[in-house]
Amino acid sequence: MSDKAKLHYNGNDYEFPVQQGAIGPDVIDISKLYAETGAFTLDPGFTSTASCESEITYIDGEKGILLHRGYPIDQLAEEGHFLETCYLLLYGELPNETQRAEFEGAITYHTMIHEQMHQLFMGFRRDAHPMAIMVGVVGALSAFYHDSTDIHDPQQREIASRRMIAKLPTIAAMAYKYHKGQPFVYPRNDLDYASNFLHMCFSVPSEDYEVNPVLARALDRIFILHADHEQNASTSTVRLASSSGANPFACIAAGIACLWGPSHGGANEAALNMLAEIGSTDRIPEFIERAKDKDDPFRLMGFGHRVYKNYDPRAKVMQKTAHEVLTELGITDDPLLDVAQELEKIALSDPYFVEKKLYPNIDFYSGITLRALGFPTSMFTVLFALARTVGWISQWREMIEDPKQRIGRPRQLYTGPTQRDYVAPEKR
Ligand code: CMC
Repeated sequence: MSDKAKLHYNGNDYEFPVQQGAIGPDVIDISKLYAETGAFTLDPGFTSTASCESEITYIDGEKGILLHRGYPIDQLAEEGHFLETCYLLLYGELPNETQRAEFEGAITYHTMIHEQMHQLFMGFRRDAHPMAIMVGVVGALSAFYHDSTDIHDPQQREIASRRMIAKLPTIAAMAYKYHKGQPFVYPRNDLDYASNFLHMCFSVPSEDYEVNPVLARALDRIFILHADHEQNASTSTVRLASSSGANPFACIAAGIACLWGPSHGGANEAALNMLAEIGSTDRIPEFIERAKDKDDPFRLMGFGHRVYKNYDPRAKVMQKTAHEVLTELGITDDPLLDVAQELEKIALSDPYFVEKKLYPNIDFYSGITLRALGFPTSMFTVLFALARTVGWISQWREMIEDPKQRIGRPRQLYTGPTQRDYVAPEKR
């Protein structure tokens, strides 16, 4: 393999260094392209552009592989726990027993939010989408925790990281309770991360609530499956926002805003709404035809991925988790699961989907699972945001610690009017 890429442009020859990663495609380093040739590259949607160097997550989209710090996602999800995965993403290694106890203790004992933040919620309409509340309240953390906004201080970065992992479930549960018109429930430090979240969402002061350990384990696994995913749209948003030196709470709020879109994290809500709209297996052919029709904007939500051209490895674990949750809850006949399974079967054998390599992604089965756990569709993307926070934070920390880090400033292919003179209003 050559370590130089040659470019012939405008009658001149140029050479650019080629870098090899630990695995994955080579990267042509074009950082000096403009300085040497006077030309930019154009790559809308960044399909061929590596925006940074990273040691955190690796995806082989052709083979359907997802590794966190080298560990396959299915092993982490089936054998590990979410806080262990958080530690892995943040610090690069799985924790030993002492490290695990220290980290879990630190997260568990910082779950409460500043009491005055409760008033913030009251400013939102009761029918506000919980993601709108998340964007606002997470951004507002920077107004309450001034001692962890100096990004140049490693200690403050560490405190901000742990604070967000600890407090996001509390904020997410409060967004849910506010939406529902129920009183906020304080966190309980004797519960594990997922159990505490279920407790804050589903317990009410008027009766006892016991967390079902099978459901808590399923939720923990859902968190692991969403923890990080390389340089996706919301992670790139966090990196770009923080490249200007913005504080970490503001940057994570920016990531949450990006995640909300239906092409990204919002797809889990959209996928469940679509399954409900299809309603029964006999209507599937009609929707498959609509998805294939170029003149119809309808897409099969939960299908296709920018990087995976194979079955999303997270979708496989999610499908299994969906079955476990439904079995535990004694739901033997879920019409939406029937629609999902039949839709998957038909789409996977349809030439349109086969040729375009459109496979189910993580969002296809997550909605069914979250709905069975008791969450309304409006909360689905909130749960995604809660779990992805650790990925965003890990990527943010890596970026801040990278000595090559500079403000992100893409350029453009300008196609607007060339210079012209101002015309006075009466002469236009
Ligand atoms: N249904 C029908 N056709 C599709 C679909 C779909 N879900 N996804 C892609 N296509 C077609 C698309 O019309 C295009 O066809 P053609 O080449 O004839 O113009 C081709 O496949 C390539 O699509 P694209 O939009 O150029 O691909 P992309 O990489 O820009 O988009 C995507 C990726 C995930 C946005 C897209 O597949 C999609 O909109 N899927 C539905 C939404 C969804 O499930 N998103 C969740 C992604 S996974 C969770 C996460 O990481 O956030």
